[in-house]
Amino acid sequence: MKSLSFLFLFLLFSLGATAQRIAVLGALDQEIAILLDSLKEKKEVQYGGLTFYTGNLKGQEVVIGKSGVGKVNAAYSTAILLDHFTPKQLIFTGVAGGLHPESLPGDVVIGTKLIQTDFGQIDSVGFKISPFRKLSGGRYDDLYIHSDPGLVQQAEAAAKRVTFIPISNRAPRVFSGVIATADVFVSNQATAEKLYTDYEALATEMEGAAVAHLCRTLGVPFIVLRSCSDNANQVARVSFNQFVRPAAINSAGIVLQLLQAMN
Ligand code: ADE
Repeated sequence: MKSLSFLFLFLLFSLGATAQRIAVLGALDQEIAILLDSLKEKKEVQYGGLTFYTGNLKGQEVVIGKSGVGKVNAAYSTAILLDHFTPKQLIFTGVAGGLHPESLPGDVVIGTKLIQTDFGQIDSVGFKISPFRKLSGGRYDDLYIHSDPGLVQQAEAAAKRVTFIPISNRAPRVFSGVIATADVFVSNQATAEKLYTDYEALATEMEGAAVAHLCRTLGVPFIVLRSCSDNANQVARVSFNQFVRPAAINSAGIVLQLLQAMN
C-alpha cells in the first residue's frame, strides 16, 4: 500500500513537472542554436521522428524543438510537442520577411495576431482568403488568431532589455502586430506590399499561424517572435542568406529575456 502511494506521488510529480515546461520552437537549426548553447542540464529525447531538448534555460524548465520549414512541418512538430510535453506555454522564435514600409533587416516583430494568407479559394476574380477551419469542422469567425496577451506584454517588456545586433544602418526597431504565414518564401515587392495593406501584416513567414492554430485548438497560450532577415522583396533570398544568423539571434534574445523575467 505504502509503495503504491509512493508510485502515485511519483507519477503525479513527474506529470506535474512535465506540465510546467515552457516550449520553444524554431523552424531552422540557426533559429534555435543560440538557445541550445545556453541550455543547462540538456537532455535529448526523440518523439515522432523529431528531436527535442529539455533542460533549464534562464531559470525555466523548457523543451526546445525544431519544427522544420512550412505549415505542414510546423503543425506536425507542434502536435507532437504538445501531445508529449503538455507545455504550459509555447514561444515560437525565428526570422521573417519584414513588411512594414520602414522595416529593415534586424528589426523585430512581436506577433500579436497570426493570419494564414494562402488559405482560401481561387475563382475568376482571383484569390479570396478564408478563415481557419476548426479541427472538429466549421469555420472560425476571425481571420486572425491572437497570441496570448500576457506573453505579448512580457515580450514587449523583454525586448526593451535586449541588446540587438545591428544589421542595417540604424538600431533595430521593435514592432508589435500581425504576422502573416503562408507556404511561400516571399521575394516580390508587390506581394509584400499587398500583405501589409490587405492584412496589416508586419512580417511574413512560413510557420507561425500553423503553430498558433494547434495551440488555440489545444488551449496552450503562445506567442510568435520574429526578426527580419529580409524585406520580402526581389533581393530577399540574398538578404536572408546574409542575415539569417544575426536576425535569429535578435529574436532568440527576446526569448532569453522573457524567460529570465519569469523567475
Ligand atoms: N522567412 C524569412 N524571410 C521570409 C520571406 N521573405 N518569406 C517567407 N518566409 C521568410
